[in-house]
Amino acid sequence: MQGPKAFATFFKAAIAVCALLLMTHLIPVHGTPAVACNSAGESLACQCLTHQVTCSYEGLTEVPTGIPNDTNTLTLWGNKFTSITKASFAGLSQVSNILLSGNKISSIEVGSFDWQSDTLEQLALNNNELETLEVGVFRNLTKLKYLHLEGNMISSLSGLLRGLSSLESIDLNNNRISALPADVFRGLPLRKLRLARNGILDIDNILAALPANVRTLDLNGNGLGNLRAAMFSGFSNLTQLKLEANGMDSLPENLFLGLDKLTLLHLDNNMLVELNRSSFGDHPKLQMLTVANNSIVRIEPGFFSTFRELVDINLQGNDLTYLPPGTFDNLDSIEFLNLDGNRLDTLDRNVFRGLQNVWYIYLGENGMKSLPSTIFHGLQMLRYLDLNDNELSVIEDGTFDGTPKTACPNHDRHQASPERVTGGLQGTVEAEDPRFEDRAVRDVVDGERVGVCPVDQRTALQF
Ligand SMILES: *[C@@H]1O[C@H](CO)[C@@H](O)[C@H](O)[C@H]1NC(C)=O
Ligand SMILES: *[C@@H]1O[C@H](CO)[C@@H](O)[C@H](O)[C@H]1NC(C)=O
Ligand SMILES: *[C@@H]1O[C@H](CO)[C@@H](O)[C@H](O)[C@H]1NC(C)=O
Ligand SMILES: *[C@@H]1O[C@H](CO)[C@@H](O)[C@H](O)[C@H]1NC(C)=O
Ligand SMILES: *[C@@H]1O[C@H](CO)[C@@H](O)[C@H](O)[C@H]1NC(C)=O
Repeated sequence: MQGPKAFATFFKAAIAVCALLLMTHLIPVHGTPAVACNSAGESLACQCLTHQVTCSYEGLTEVPTGIPNDTNTLTLWGNKFTSITKASFAGLSQVSNILLSGNKISSIEVGSFDWQSDTLEQLALNNNELETLEVGVFRNLTKLKYLHLEGNMISSLSGLLRGLSSLESIDLNNNRISALPADVFRGLPLRKLRLARNGILDIDNILAALPANVRTLDLNGNGLGNLRAAMFSGFSNLTQLKLEANGMDSLPENLFLGLDKLTLLHLDNNMLVELNRSSFGDHPKLQMLTVANNSIVRIEPGFFSTFRELVDINLQGNDLTYLPPGTFDNLDSIEFLNLDGNRLDTLDRNVFRGLQNVWYIYLGENGMKSLPSTIFHGLQMLRYLDLNDNELSVIEDGTFDGTPKTACPNHDRHQASPERVTGGLQGTVEAEDPRFEDRAVRDVVDGERVGVCPVDQRTALQF
């Protein structure tokens, strides 16, 4: 009887000792950094694979030593580093990716990346505690293409990016940059600039510094207010423009003049009251237009007619009471149409005519009392239809004739909206639907789409 008990006690003690050993390895005593990979390529703190070392979410307070000098990708997410020094990455002359996101870094010594000047392509310093960066911290990084600085408290970029002759993309979302020095990007091949939520009040402080060849500009969540006509016309290669949540209540005529390559335009969460052709102009390549959560009461007839490649329209959360007949005519590329949360108490029976490729239609929360019985006829690709939270007492027989058997209608107004899988569409639809494979929409989706019909409802609610 004593045997098993003694063994159990011993076993518990052994576990405690092991745990202690483990902890001392993971959380090194101050001044003795953890060793990343020993001579056998093993370690408790890190995962050591050929050319890849990952030490993430380990509570490390300093960059570990013993990182093999042939490492290419160094992933150090989610630790507790507070500073990066010249010693941190010394000797590592083959690294092309350094990922330091989600630490507590507030200082970086000039020279910290000197060993990587010929190799570093991606540097992620996002979600740290950087307030100022000394001129020179990125010196000689002539191969650097992607720089992530989002989620810090940076207010100035003055002199910082000089010489980054390969820099294509910089993410500065969620910082405190209200203006840019006019020469900050001079000579850089910059294509993507993200400056969402920085408290920028005057867009001219940004546009003056913007390279003419920029492709993506994210100014979401600043305080820009209303904009001037043709102010983007010098940036004719812009494909993605994000202007959500900027307190705009009207758009001047020709605001988007010259943006012939625009594929994505986000205007959500402003206070716009109408959509007029004169403000938008022609954008033959436009694939995604989102104007959710504004106060739109009126869409000019023919507004969408020049956007022949539109795949995705989001008009959720506006004040539309009426859609003129023909609103969506000839939009045979539309796959996603969101009209949730408007005040459309009825719809023209031909309003969806011609949407032969539409997959998703959202009509929830509209107070609709009736539906024309032929409104969905011909929508042979329809996979998901949301009619939740309306006042439909009758849906006539035959309403869903000709729509696919696998579609998923939802029309119980007492039932909560079906599970929506945020950002799930990318993984789901792309995998299911080969048509998405080569589509530019893959790039424009950006993980922001919502809405997948849950499989159980698909079978339960066959019609
Ligand atoms: C890399 O480290 C190995 C031993 O760990 C050494 O033999 C080799 O010279 C080093 N290479 C460079 C380029 O420093
Ligand atoms: C960085 O480049 C400058 C010239 O622009 C050069 O003088 C300096 O030695 C370089 N520093 C390193 C650490 O490579
Ligand atoms: C737009 O891109 C094309 C092709 O890359 C280039 O030739 C042109 O100079 C660019 N336009 C501007 C304004 O930079
Ligand atoms: C939109 O167009 C209508 C006429 O079609 C006009 O009355 C209205 O003022 C225009 N609004 C804007 C913001 O241009
Ligand atoms: C619009 O507002 C609703 C409700 O607050 C929210 O669920 C939805 O995500 C918003 N849409 C956008 C595109 O911001």
